[in-house]
Amino acid sequence: MTKDIITEIIDDHKIIKNLAQRYENESNTDERQKIANTVIREIAVHSACEEINLYPAIEKHLTNGKELSDHSREEHLQVKKDLYKLDSMKVTDDGYRELFEKMMKELKHHIDEEESDHLPKFKETVPKNELESLGASFAKTRTTAPTHPHPSAPDKPPAETMAGIASLPLDKTLDSMRDFVDTGREKL
Ligand SMILES: [Fe+2]
Ligand SMILES: [Fe+2]
Repeated sequence: MTKDIITEIIDDHKIIKNLAQRYENESNTDERQKIANTVIREIAVHSACEEINLYPAIEKHLTNGKELSDHSREEHLQVKKDLYKLDSMKVTDDGYRELFEKMMKELKHHIDEEESDHLPKFKETVPKNELESLGASFAKTRTTAPTHPHPSAPDKPPAETMAGIASLPLDKTLDSMRDFVDTGREKL
């Protein structure tokens, strides 16, 4: 079933926040590592999906769309920089937990802004059929988006789309050496 882009985004936010909560509550180091690997992957993919599908549409439809999407891209970049460091560390390393918490705090602020301001404005302005076709593109991008953070890669399509596809084989190789937890996406 095709979901509209608002539902796709809110589902991703739920998954990410739920995983972050699981990370906080988990005392077993191996399990915590698997959850952290999954958080990093889900945020990397989600950011690319928004940058490729949502932000250009915000620029097109909202009067202050350029300002909103530039601001969002900046917030994504900060999160990606932290994620990039976390991606090369182990959960048991000194400073990991503090950096993870800092990154999640920044991300939650960004998610709150999207859910309370940007997305409601977008939903009000954009016709239902376009929200649905953007939802389909968003879900499609999920299958080709990079699964690791690349803070120095382009953050606008079409360059981001191409760079993501180019980095995917290496990202997938890294993923094949890691363990993940189930995100529970099917139950949403
Ligand atoms: Fe975002
Ligand atoms: Fe988001």
